[in-house]
Amino acid sequence: MPTGRADPGPWGDRAGTEAAWRLVYGEFAPAEERLREALCTLGNGYFATRGAAPEARAGRVHYPGTYIAGCYDRLPSRVSGRTVVNEDLVNAPNWLPLTFRVQDGPWFAPGRFPLLDYRQELDLRRGLLCRWLRYRDDAGRVTAVDQQRLVSMDDPHVAALRTTIRAENWSGSLEVRSGLDARVRNRGVARYRGLANRHLVTEAAGADGELLWLTADTVTSAVRIALACRNAVDAREVTRRETRDEPGWIARHLTVAMSPGETVTVEKVVGLHTSLDSSAVPPAAAARRSAERAPCFAELRTRHGRAWERLWRRGRLDVGGGPAQRTINLHLFHVLQTVSPHTAGVDAGVPARGLHGEAYRGHVFWDELFVLPFLCLRFPEVVRALLRYRVRRLPAARRAAREAGHTGAMYPWQSGSDGREETQVLHLNPRSGRWLPDNSRLQRHVGLAIAYNIWQYHQTSGDLEFLCEQGAETLLEIARFWASVATYDRSSGRYDIRGVMGPDEYHDAYPDADRPGLDNNAYTNVMAAWTLWRALDVLDLLPSVRRAGLRERLALTDDELARFEDVGRRLRVVFHRDGIISQFEGYERLTELDWEGYRRRYGDIRRLDRILEAEGDTANRYKVSKQADVLMLFYLLTADELRALFGRLGYRLDHETIPRTVRYYLARTSHGSTLSAVVHAWVLARSDRLASWRFFLEALDSDLHDVQGGTTAEGIHLGAMAGTLDLAQRCYTGLEPRDGVLRVAPTLPPGLPGLAMELEYRGHAGLRLFADDTGVSLRLPLSTRPPIRVALDDGPVTDLAAGRSLRLEPGRRDERGRAGRGDR
Ligand code: BGC
Repeated sequence: MPTGRADPGPWGDRAGTEAAWRLVYGEFAPAEERLREALCTLGNGYFATRGAAPEARAGRVHYPGTYIAGCYDRLPSRVSGRTVVNEDLVNAPNWLPLTFRVQDGPWFAPGRFPLLDYRQELDLRRGLLCRWLRYRDDAGRVTAVDQQRLVSMDDPHVAALRTTIRAENWSGSLEVRSGLDARVRNRGVARYRGLANRHLVTEAAGADGELLWLTADTVTSAVRIALACRNAVDAREVTRRETRDEPGWIARHLTVAMSPGETVTVEKVVGLHTSLDSSAVPPAAAARRSAERAPCFAELRTRHGRAWERLWRRGRLDVGGGPAQRTINLHLFHVLQTVSPHTAGVDAGVPARGLHGEAYRGHVFWDELFVLPFLCLRFPEVVRALLRYRVRRLPAARRAAREAGHTGAMYPWQSGSDGREETQVLHLNPRSGRWLPDNSRLQRHVGLAIAYNIWQYHQTSGDLEFLCEQGAETLLEIARFWASVATYDRSSGRYDIRGVMGPDEYHDAYPDADRPGLDNNAYTNVMAAWTLWRALDVLDLLPSVRRAGLRERLALTDDELARFEDVGRRLRVVFHRDGIISQFEGYERLTELDWEGYRRRYGDIRRLDRILEAEGDTANRYKVSKQADVLMLFYLLTADELRALFGRLGYRLDHETIPRTVRYYLARTSHGSTLSAVVHAWVLARSDRLASWRFFLEALDSDLHDVQGGTTAEGIHLGAMAGTLDLAQRCYTGLEPRDGVLRVAPTLPPGLPGLAMELEYRGHAGLRLFADDTGVSLRLPLSTRPPIRVALDDGPVTDLAAGRSLRLEPGRRDERGRAGRGDR
């Protein structure tokens, strides 16, 4: 019987209310400016520019920054009497500079004159950053400014700024200065200020007719970055036109005569190319061509808006309106500005802090574990490209494993340009002022995240070609590494993994040990067992000829596969005496922290590691975690999968172990990473909906309200942003693509009335899904693709054919008629 609710979702109303698409600031607030710059960054997956005021230079209040995906440079620095080498995502030449002055007075800058009005608005739907302001200068002249900018989602090499200036009550000359600035450095993070930061050498700059251009090379990596811009003034006559330059800077000065009530509009259209582009045209020529050929601002904005419309159609996630909806839109906006279909044309990974700032030097960590599973069901082609970033660095990972005395592939904890380990050797504790050894490179589990994503991508896309060509090889080499790292303990008949770190960065060594590293981190061991198991599955999935070819190429013998099987069945998992899964061997012997005492003394104790170190103590002594570690297992694998995996390892995971383990670590975690709230929201989703909802809200707040106190200004937290999207997409819907069946099992938290989305699954685009507490509605658009197989929870599997709808409710299943051609 039809249930009457088969149509997926309330599209176009709640998620569509204007407030859900705008981030608005009604006043200029210098103390918040850097945070707003990060949150108002515009980008297109090829490059991004912080939302800094065009007239601003880097200083206490402002920090303009432009970052190009995959554009890194390495420099040596002297720290604490030693030389360290760091690789940075390069702050590229600034294309924004534009200011003006009246009658040869001082140049306009927000702090310089009293502002009468100020409003800044980020338009998420259309990808525009807008600013309106009025000010009065010392001579009583009132001037209004209206600005819009975009970083084109249509043409990834183009950005544009349109400025309209109005003389409200004065007449006289107005001189506009529009420039390109290569004098920038990497100075966005206070903690790194003692380090070398001058990554650019200006190669050349010049002016040709309407165009200005500038090229700069990075110091060590020798990447050429070329910018060109075209400045156009609307109809009125330019009385003076001059070009001024100095090393690293070139600007056009345009003077016009103004009368009261008159406006002038200046359009700056910019082309940006680098020698990293896969193009036969040299970057300087390409940048000039882009700037010359790009249409006017209005046309650019139309094309850019259409490109965003297409992205929103594929990415949009309707959580039912309200403030959560706006933050969800904001998060999706920034995820897609960092990794978009344009990223597919670039050799770049998933930078943990987006292309929005310089924290963590633009490096690529394991955070893609929180990003790619969401994108798999939306933009599979982007996921494939991002996985290829890892595939291309397989030789470097093999070399690293070999140098460490192992086989297979050992991926670096922090990755940049060429796949070598980029984790710094020393890090600064700003609280104590001490530079300390940084052992976080021992987080070898990063490879497990790559394996997990390869598998996840295959499960959702069904793309066998990627698996045959590259995915299987990468996953097998990662598995090989773990099989080689594990050492056999005769007395227990178990394999151990020693000397590593888990995701919880508070523990990098045993108290009083003279060497870093911990033994048998549960997350690492269990996910290594999972990877070894999947490696065998992956081989089975390959057509026999491809399998034989790959095995031959990798010299993967039967003996080695037998070792995969053996290690995968006998890796050790340590439990506390009462059955809680131990984060690592010996965790149970650590001291309990006086949480209340520390909260009382310090208030915010998210960064307990820094607090304890500054006290001359160490987090290594205590049962404290920065973020979810053991609980990551419940984040990545379902209870059924875990039970099967533990069973294969010869351990019993009874019903109570999971909730008990969750409670245990929840009480001992300070959430010093924004990833932590995402994981906790996930693992509590089914057992404590209210607690899950609270963590979800906290994760939504992470960047918008800068909950870590100052970190967002240095770059958004991409993993947390994407993690919230995935909570809505997969966790609360119970969506699980597994073995060719798409399973759903919604459990919505109290604040979410329903969830609507459009997914890509196994070659079907536009699979619409609506879930609420009563069940799930699905609709598949017409296509020539074969039906998909769906199921509610563990219930029976049903085919859903293209052009049909399906309603799944507990205890009820009903298929409706064909969807009309006009259906979206
Ligand atoms: C977290 C890591 C994360 C890194 C980059 C750290 O604070 O502990 O898990 O990969 O930030 O986002």
